[in-house]
Amino acid sequence: MIHFSRGIPPREAIPTEAITRLTRRVLDTEADRLFQYPPIGKYAGDPDLRRELAAFHGTEAERIFVTNGSLQALDLLAGHLVHPGDVVYVEAPTYDRAVQIFERHGAKVVGVPLEHDGLDVAALAQLVAAHVPAFVYTIPDFQNPSGVTMNDSKRRELVRLAAEYEFTVIEDIPYRELRYTGTASASLAELDLDNRVVTVGSLSKVLSPGLRIGYVIADPALVTDLAGQAEGVYLSPSPLSQAIGARCLAEGLVQSNVADLRRLMAPRLSAAVDAVREQLGEILVAAPEGGYYLTVHLPVANDEATFLADARAVGVVLTRGSAFYPDGSMPPQGTIFLRLPFQAMEPEEFAAGIGRLASLIA
Ligand SMILES: Cc1ncc(COP(=O)(O)O)c(C=O)c1O
Repeated sequence: MIHFSRGIPPREAIPTEAITRLTRRVLDTEADRLFQYPPIGKYAGDPDLRRELAAFHGTEAERIFVTNGSLQALDLLAGHLVHPGDVVYVEAPTYDRAVQIFERHGAKVVGVPLEHDGLDVAALAQLVAAHVPAFVYTIPDFQNPSGVTMNDSKRRELVRLAAEYEFTVIEDIPYRELRYTGTASASLAELDLDNRVVTVGSLSKVLSPGLRIGYVIADPALVTDLAGQAEGVYLSPSPLSQAIGARCLAEGLVQSNVADLRRLMAPRLSAAVDAVREQLGEILVAAPEGGYYLTVHLPVANDEATFLADARAVGVVLTRGSAFYPDGSMPPQGTIFLRLPFQAMEPEEFAAGIGRLASLIA
């Protein structure tokens, strides 16, 4: 079986030995405090970790709020921002778990078309003129699921709309550091002069998902509010996990692992692009320069469920692309949307999987 399914880091992307070595050092030097409750008033996160994350992102520690993975950040932000019946605009397609979280908080989640260079901000402009949302949720860099990156002019226009109509933008950037070619655009937070952008980040894709370290970068007043929510439910993320994350950042392990990931993933990405172009034709949604995902609009006569069952019969496991479309939005007529994560596969295996799909279509 060839699995084009989960977007998780492969074993070789997690620096297990180095994390273990630094964990031993943390335990040797800080064990006393790590097996105690975090001090009262420190529920926004371990001070060392907040300082290290702030340095990593070129911001101030009081703007950092640490969570148990970035999914929890999305949950707490939705709890803060959404009132029942509020509208939230998201890219269509988008990260399915985020949509579920927002809906659980009572939001009406509306999909805005995603183009090869990011959110269709002209369509968004019409929507916000008709109905101002609680927030817009975007994954501007190497988006999950599509691999798309938002271009500079759309970033500027999105931030301008947020200032004009006074709504929050949540930019979720777990893949931003994983750029294998090309140059980065400014983040939305860097373009924001009106304090409208809240950034959600994670150490899951650059260090280890098992540490469950996510974070919010926001105005200190919002950080205080989120810390109050955390205090009412779970106090704070695990002190041990946070201390390990802080030590890995302080020792430069996250930074060196990002460099290693670029070397590991760049050939996987370019081989994956070649395999799709050679065997399936010009059907890529975008030609990503980083991240985990290639996606295609695959022209098939059958419905999605039938195609996925047929693919499984020839040894290819796929994710249901329609699950990434909120609110009844759909990929282009006559196609199905396939997410093809390349990060965990050697080029030969990826090409073999694409070969099986090509024969199936033929
Ligand atoms: C866009 C996006 N946001 C959030 C997450 C959740 O990450 P975490 O492990 O930090 O909870 C993922 C995980 O794949 C993701 O792709």
